Amino acid sequence: MRAVQYRRFGGPEVLEMAEVADPTPGAGEVRVSVRAVGLNPVDAKTFAGDPRLRLVESLHTLRDPGRWFGRGPDRFPRGVARDFSGVVDAVGPGVTDLSIGDAVLGTLRSAPGLGMRKGALAEKVVASHSDVVLKPEALSFDTAASLGVAAQTASGAFRRLDLTDADILVISAAAGGVGSLAVQLAAHRGATVIGIAGERNADYLRSLGAVPVSHGEGIRARILAAAPQPVTKLLDCFGGQYVSLGFALGLPGRAIGTLVPSPGAIIRGARFTGSRHGRPDDLQEVSDLVAEGAIGISLAGVHPFDIESVRDAYAEQATGHVRGKIVVRLS
Ligand SMILES: NC(=O)c1ccc[n+]([C@@H]2O[C@H](COP(=O)([O-])OP(=O)(O)OC[C@H]3O[C@@H](n4cnc5c(N)ncnc54)[C@H](OP(=O)(O)O)[C@@H]3O)[C@@H](O)[C@H]2O)c1
Repeated sequence: MRAVQYRRFGGPEVLEMAEVADPTPGAGEVRVSVRAVGLNPVDAKTFAGDPRLRLVESLHTLRDPGRWFGRGPDRFPRGVARDFSGVVDAVGPGVTDLSIGDAVLGTLRSAPGLGMRKGALAEKVVASHSDVVLKPEALSFDTAASLGVAAQTASGAFRRLDLTDADILVISAAAGGVGSLAVQLAAHRGATVIGIAGERNADYLRSLGAVPVSHGEGIRARILAAAPQPVTKLLDCFGGQYVSLGFALGLPGRAIGTLVPSPGAIIRGARFTGSRHGRPDDLQEVSDLVAEGAIGISLAGVHPFDIESVRDAYAEQATGHVRGKIVVRLS
């Protein structure tokens, strides 16, 4: 089968199309014939060998040098991407909830930096049955492939922040892959949402159910003007200055969640959250909401499965201004 791999860290140019053996599902796993793959910024951070992720990797290697991702010949090649949709074509021992022929969506779960060897950008992928759910019929394979990381991240963050319908919630990078979903999920749960994005995304954010506020100088004053009552929580989907903004809005650290933590943010008491607080059933819940039309997914682009197009797709994502999700379609 064809699979995207890399043999050294770098930008999208390190990605190659390789011919590899079909993987075999082990106990508790299924093999999926992949129809579409959703891209996430963490994919590129991983193949770039982001120093923060490599630090995580080396800490684990110190504790357990026998792990495959240790510095040795086993380190490369590595696969790329996490989120996929497709059709189950083989089932490992002990799997009773999925069968050959089931249309599914899923995500390859692993802490970033732990050098996940397999990747979703392949014609076939093996995943734990608990990370794969049945695809509602109303969902296209493209949309289904875009849900995994975003659904577990947004749901996990709201679990950690204990979001309620009484909250006035600020979300940064509200027009991105996670932010677009987070805005709609929070609004669906009854919270009032103020979304931060560039001015060109103001109408888009309104369509998702948020009051739009543009990023840049003077943002605190714009949020105070936009909020009907005092802000109660902030979910930072961007990093950098937004944790400080939460404190400047008068929030305590426990009411500020960030997906992109910095040591300063954590020392000040903000919460590092996201997929680490997600649960397997979050994906089913979100995919059902999308299938019902309660939540919509905006696809910024659907690319074919050839190496130039995959590299272009990651280059587009690296601009940092993608609205919604980018998908690679395999068949
Ligand atoms: N901790 C976790 O579990 C976890 C999980 C998933 C993602 N993440 C991380 O969370 C981040 C967001 O992921 P994503 O998939 O949503 O990324 P994304 O789709 O690439 O986000 C792009 C969005 O960022 C917005 N943006 C750009 N500059 C901004 C600024 N200065 N202020 C506010 N928004 C700005 C853009 O809006 P405009 O074009 O309007 O500027 C765009 O819509 C990434 O760093 C990712 O690695 C962490």
